[in-house]
Amino acid sequence: MNIVGKKVVLKAIEQEDLKKIHDWSNDPTINYMLGGWHFPSSMQDQQRWFEGLSLNSNNQRFAIHSKQEGFIGVANLVDINWKDGNAFHGMLLGENSSRGKGYGTDTVMTIAKYAFEELGLNRLDTTIISNNEASLGLYINKCGWKQEGVKKDYYFRKNTRWDMIILGITASDFQEVAKANGY
Ligand SMILES: CC(C)(COP(=O)(O)OP(=O)(O)OC[C@H]1O[C@@H](n2cnc3c(N)ncnc32)[C@H](O)[C@@H]1OP(=O)(O)O)[C@@H](O)C(=O)NCCC(=O)NCCS
Repeated sequence: MNIVGKKVVLKAIEQEDLKKIHDWSNDPTINYMLGGWHFPSSMQDQQRWFEGLSLNSNNQRFAIHSKQEGFIGVANLVDINWKDGNAFHGMLLGENSSRGKGYGTDTVMTIAKYAFEELGLNRLDTTIISNNEASLGLYINKCGWKQEGVKKDYYFRKNTRWDMIILGITASDFQEVAKANGY
């Protein structure tokens, strides 16, 4: 079942999406903004990753589609802990041209709504590198996530140490921001 937001639809990742995901995962400007990191990865690595996705109910990955632009990014709900009711979430929009149009806000709100109101989870977690002002603004100011901690000097990028900002949102905090924004 696709997950339908106001501006985006979250779908399963398909084989034809892999070329773009491969390009994005090797793009230094995107990787500079992300907490995760890896060496240059081949199309073969990408294919293996895709084949490993399978129907794993603890790790869900979504292709972000917009009506106007088609496949624009990826988002996830991973490490889903069904007993305690929590999961980790992350996302990226691959092209500069897709950013600043509200797709990020809609993706985060739509995933949170799905996690809390369909899966019955009680909190979501994410981590953000402290140089990523766009992402911090999005999660904190637009989507109601709260800063819960800082890991000092956690990341090393361009010969500089950056903090890891730890964010979270609970189901009850989400209800407030959802109501205020019509979700
Ligand atoms: C970060 C990202 C997800 C934001 O998505 P987006 O669709 O561009 O953001 P939105 O248009 O929904 O903007 C929402 C808010 O984010 C913040 N924001 C977005 N772009 C920003 C920028 N360039 N600088 C500062 N704040 C910014 C603002 O608070 C903005 O609210 P406003 O429009 O009222 O000013 C997207 O830019 C992206 O994927 N970047 C590359 C990868 C990445 O950083 N992923 C997140 C890793 S944690």
